[in-house]
Amino acid sequence: MASVQVRLVRPSEHAALGELTVAAYARVDPGTLQSDYADELRDVAGRAAGADVLVAVDEQAGGAVVGGVTYVPDRSSPSAEFTEPDAAGIRMLAVAAGAQGRGVGEALTQACIERARAAGRRQIVLHSTDRMATAHRLYVRLGFERDPSIDWEGEPGLWLRGFRLRLDPPV
Ligand SMILES: CC(C)(COP(=O)(O)OP(=O)(O)OC[C@H]1O[C@@H](n2cnc3c(N)ncnc32)[C@H](O)[C@@H]1OP(=O)(O)O)[C@@H](O)C(=O)NCCC(=O)NCCS
Repeated sequence: MASVQVRLVRPSEHAALGELTVAAYARVDPGTLQSDYADELRDVAGRAAGADVLVAVDEQAGGAVVGGVTYVPDRSSPSAEFTEPDAAGIRMLAVAAGAQGRGVGEALTQACIERARAAGRRQIVLHSTDRMATAHRLYVRLGFERDPSIDWEGEPGLWLRGFRLRLDPPV
């Protein structure tokens, strides 16, 4: 992990992150790739226009992109899947198969939490499918709680489960 850095994605990395994200989702829950969602996952440039796309790059591996996440700053972002005025969001967290299990996903999620705190957001909202159990453990470990009141059916039979992290007010 010492060699892994988290920062904003660069245009030259858009394609690699898009493919990495589709591959990570395909391994865990291929059902998420129905409809046009694979195209949406690949469209890093599109979401970078209205949200902060972060990457994890491994300096020891020549700066290879090993993971990424989309930080949604507020509900006005085209990537927002929440309506709360004081919320930020996290979407499309993914880590390359060969880089999983060493804290990259946690570092990406922590980077989003830090951005939300710095911006004075009071909560972070995200959604995840039932098969994304590794992600659920990560979120709960970082303080997120399940919130079934914001579950929604993204596609027939594909439920997106709500998670919410309340952030303490600044002291
Ligand atoms: C969810 C996902 C991003 C997690 O990425 P990751 O880099 O493997 O995450 P972490 O390494 O931080 O944590 C994963 C596990 O490795 C463990 N771990 C972290 N650092 C470790 C280390 N240095 N040594 C050993 N284990 C370690 C964690 O404790 C965790 O264990 P657990 O699953 O038993 O709770 C990845 O599995 C993924 O891409 N999944 C598919 C896409 C997906 O589900 N996205 C979520 C969208 S909502």
